[in-house]
Amino acid sequence: MASNDESTIEARLAEQEYFRPPTKFVGQANVSDPAVYDRFAEFPAGFEEYADLLDWDAHWDELLDDSNPPFYEWFVGGELNASYNCVDRHLDDGKNRTALRWEGEDGEQRNLSYQDLYREVNAMAAALRDVGVDEGDVVTIHLPMVPALPITMLACARLGAPHSVVFAGFSANALAERVDSADSEYVVTIDGYYRRGDFLPHIEKADEALREAAGDPQVLAWTRHEEPHDSVAVSDDYTMVADLLDEHAGERVAPVSRDAEDPLFLMYTSGTTGQPKGCQHRTGGYLAYAAGTSKYVLDIKPEDTYWCSADIGWITGHSYIVYGPLALGTTSVMYEGTPDHPHRSRMWEIAERYDVDVFHTSPTAVRMFMKWGAEHLEGYDFDFRHLTTVGEPIQPEAWLWYYEHVGGEDAVIVDTWWQTETGGHLITNLPALDDMKPGSAGRPAPGIEPAILDDEGEPVDPESGEAGNLVITRPWPGMLQTVYGDDERFIEEYWERFSDTDSDDPDDWIYEAGDGAVQGPDGYYRVLGRLDDVMNVAGHRLGTMELESAVSEVEAVAEAAVAAREDSEKGEVPDVYVVLRTGVEESESVREDIVTAIEEEIGKFARPNEVAFVGDLPKTRSGKIMRRLLEDISNDAELGDTTTLRDPSVPEQIREQVGAD
Ligand code: WTA
Repeated sequence: MASNDESTIEARLAEQEYFRPPTKFVGQANVSDPAVYDRFAEFPAGFEEYADLLDWDAHWDELLDDSNPPFYEWFVGGELNASYNCVDRHLDDGKNRTALRWEGEDGEQRNLSYQDLYREVNAMAAALRDVGVDEGDVVTIHLPMVPALPITMLACARLGAPHSVVFAGFSANALAERVDSADSEYVVTIDGYYRRGDFLPHIEKADEALREAAGDPQVLAWTRHEEPHDSVAVSDDYTMVADLLDEHAGERVAPVSRDAEDPLFLMYTSGTTGQPKGCQHRTGGYLAYAAGTSKYVLDIKPEDTYWCSADIGWITGHSYIVYGPLALGTTSVMYEGTPDHPHRSRMWEIAERYDVDVFHTSPTAVRMFMKWGAEHLEGYDFDFRHLTTVGEPIQPEAWLWYYEHVGGEDAVIVDTWWQTETGGHLITNLPALDDMKPGSAGRPAPGIEPAILDDEGEPVDPESGEAGNLVITRPWPGMLQTVYGDDERFIEEYWERFSDTDSDDPDDWIYEAGDGAVQGPDGYYRVLGRLDDVMNVAGHRLGTMELESAVSEVEAVAEAAVAAREDSEKGEVPDVYVVLRTGVEESESVREDIVTAIEEEIGKFARPNEVAFVGDLPKTRSGKIMRRLLEDISNDAELGDTTTLRDPSVPEQIREQVGAD
């Protein structure tokens, strides 16, 4: 979590020089006329430009209905189908163009042309319809990075059934929780997939989730190979997708015309409470925003080969592997495995093989490549014109390395700030128009109006160099509609703090991002990180409360608190501070129980960095745990204010205990 203390900010703020976008890039960019900013200054009319990139079955009557904030409606009265927009409409002029280039971890390759994708999406839509999926039903998809994932998503979109993709790394419990929360009657999974050479029996998570879940969803199982893998038993209760696809091969399913405001998907994300929230995204506004930013920010063209190395199980993959790039009819690369298997040049090998033009990754990955060393890139013939980063702040040092070694000082670097909730980029430079500044996301995207407010809600003067709360003061088409099934929570989490919630004037409604940011005198924004109880571990968003409730499941634990430790590679990692029940001795086996509980409740990617046994936790007089003080301890920083603590000596005691560990 970010800190607003001055020394931290100063260190990050050390003024960086500007880099001009290469002329080679500017000459071919989708957007090279600065008038774009003026067009989008016409609010909300500017956004029409994004919607015009799509094919609509019925044109909208009203661009924005803001009469009931924060429940904004976009492209009111418009109708469209996302699957049609990402697949069918490209058949006329590009049916033989490759839509997806998939590379398995083991080197297996599969190319799907738009025609192939059309055939597969139709067959899968017919299969889903066959088992009972109807317009409006939520389908939970728990699939890794294999073509089955985008095919299933687009098949759902074709039927008008909102999908809820759960990242494959999430545990059975996390899957069960999301199935129940969305009242989902269908789960789509796969027998397994490859990770560092092993075949992971992924389907076991569905088996266990079904035992855990309150509901009793139908399960559809894909197989990674033609037949189920020998090492995995597929339950007789599950329907094999392969059988259904055989049955429905060649069938066509007409894309359902969806109201622009009908939900396209749910994406669960961590917030400040124990329960993840289902961010609900609309069809028209979301797709327009994903397509528009893919064109303007990522500079995607149909003839490009574009590779975003995120996982489709997170929002980045939804917007910038599937919906945005396919809506523009480009070729999108998908890779199943990890960047270091079977060797540390895997990414560059793939980039060379497919001649990737635009590459999109996370600062965590850049730091890792940097740590491995530039020698792993040597001898690979790739030539990127555009490099994107997303998900975390990128340190100038990592930026410069990316620029030099991956971009060959000849590609633009675009640092994009946004969130699961925002659907697409909100703060980012338009690469041909704005100079790059390492470590800075840059200017607001066209039509977006951010601001930085102090804790009282007063604007922070950009000249002051002070950090504050990043907010967005105007709606945009990609914004979430609500938290699934919980409008109140939607208001509480994002609006209440800086809005006049009694007002129906949209000017009184301000979206709180939960991030700290500082604006330079040049107007560029630097996003410092979360200010709330949300961590960013290797670009994966994790709620401290989720971790804490997992740890509390362990019987030996009386109380637990989680703090973010800064990590040179992963950005942040969780440290767990635990008070054991009276009479329980600290031991390796209790520590293991705690780690296992986190893996089972959330997933292996959430494993703690350290489990520290302590005598007490720092608490205010009203009993609230002061996680910030634990963060100071984890990061060897000077302790913040301890005067409000019930027992001000606790942090020092913890420091000693941890030091003695
Ligand atoms: C952080 C990922 C700094 C931020 C798209 C935000 C960033 C959270 C950047 C959202 C960036 C994302 N610079 N921080 N360019 N991009 N973040 O929902 O803290 O997984 O609130 O969406 O990631 O994470 P989420």
